[in-house]
Formats: sequence, structure tokens, C-alpha cells
Amino acid sequence: MQTDSFSHSEIEQALSQEPYGYPLYYFKSTGSTNEEAIKLACDGAPTGTIVVANEQTAGRGRGDRQWYTPASSGLAVSIILRPALPSRQISHVALLGAIATVQAIKSISNLQPKLKWPNDVWINGKKVAGILGESSHGTAGTEWVVLGIGINVSSGPPAGTTTRHPFSCLEEQSGHPIDRLELLRELIGAVSEHSSNMGTKTLVSIWEKHMMWRGKRVCVLNPDGTSTDGNVLGIDPDGALLLDSIDGIVRHITAGDISRTNT
Ligand code: BTN
Repeated sequence: MQTDSFSHSEIEQALSQEPYGYPLYYFKSTGSTNEEAIKLACDGAPTGTIVVANEQTAGRGRGDRQWYTPASSGLAVSIILRPALPSRQISHVALLGAIATVQAIKSISNLQPKLKWPNDVWINGKKVAGILGESSHGTAGTEWVVLGIGINVSSGPPAGTTTRHPFSCLEEQSGHPIDRLELLRELIGAVSEHSSNMGTKTLVSIWEKHMMWRGKRVCVLNPDGTSTDGNVLGIDPDGALLLDSIDGIVRHITAGDISRTNT
């Protein structure tokens, strides 16, 4: 359990110099910060609004998965953005979140996080953070995006939880205490620093620099339950996985879950 300071006033103070982070909504405990942020976005909350929780009781992960944020164990943050992005490039918001998470972790530790497509942050073969972008689109384009970021700081999912991948947390990996306020400040600073790169090749190439298993053989579990094997080439301009599949075709994969194969 963390013993760091983490209250509305301390977070407000920590983010006071950042372009994003205001208005701030802080919950000691809530179901899901993304859910709270979606309500605010629908009510017209501006770009930069953030929702932070010390505990989530119904945190949402990608697909139908849950995301666990036990009290005082990590960061659960959702940021409202209103980018002028075509809907085909909406995944750039999640790419932004992943890049910002890597940068923030590196700035407060000597850890070397990697990005596992589509948006997981892994350290030493274990997942420590995940990104969930949720958006609304109208006839005039993207109305709002909620960028949800979950980072395991002092613990991961509760013992006994069945997860698809091995999990860890920053303190286990670094071997030292991590101050959540400092991590949050670095994270929000990095989101605003890279936000103007959404929709550009720059964002894609920064993401690819941190990509895990590039050039390696993987198996993609597709949403329909089938799988595709191939070598990872990178990601395309829209954030799809570029896979040189074993039948010789380069596929652009927009959804799925990858794992390493031994061959
Ligand atoms: C994943 O890896 O499956 C995505 C996890 C995203 C978790 C974060 S925690 C803050 C925000 N609120 C949620 O309910 N989910 C995201």
C-alpha cells in the first residue's frame, strides 16, 4: 500500500504548471474514471479536463476485460481531448497515451518500458500499464475522446485474478518507492507535449521506437477467434499492426492480441 500524498489539493498543486489537468475531478473511489470522464465530455467539458481516482471498483480494460486499481496502488487517470482527427486515425489518441506513459516512467526511474501493440506497456516481460481510448464521432468528425491510462505502481491485480498476460508494477520492477504525484505530473506533461503530434508520422515513429517484438515472430489472436502468425514490421500511419504473415502477405491488423511464438 502506498503512503504517498494523493488528494485533490495535492494533485491540483502538482499539475498547476501543466497545460492539461484543469478542471480536475478527483475521486477517492469510483467505478471507472473513463465512465466519469465520458459523462463530463458529453456535458461539454473542455480539452485538458482530467479525472483521477485513488481506487477504481469497476475499471475498464480493452475488450471485455476489467482493469484493477485497488486503493492507493496505482494511477487511474482519464483525460478529455477534442482532437481534429479523422476517425480512421482515432487510435493516435491511444498511441499518445502509450508514448506519454513510457516517457513518464522513464523520467522517474531507470526502467526501460516497451510497447506491446496495440497499447500495453510492458517491463521485463510483464504488463505494468494499459491504455483505453473511448470516443464519440458526429457528422462534423470527432466530438470528444477520453484517454484512459492505468499504471500499476505498488501492486497489480489482486492475488488470484486470472489475467491473459503476466502482470507487474513499477515498484516491483524498479526496487524503489514511486511517488504517484510525480508520476502523474510527468504523465500529464508528456500527454500535452506530444498531443500536437497526433495525426502525424512523428507520433507513429516515436511509438515504433519503443515497440516490443519488432522483427520477431508473433501470433495474433484475432477478434473472431482465429489466429495469424507472422513477423512484426511496425505499425502503419493509422496505428494498425503491420504483420509480414507466413503466407507472404503483409497484413494491416486493426484489432487483436499478440503473443510471442517460439518459431
Ligand atoms: C487495457 O490494458 O486493457 C486498458 C486498461 C485501461 C485502464 C484505465 S485506468 C483509467 C481508465 N479508467 C478505466 O476504467 N480504464 C482506464
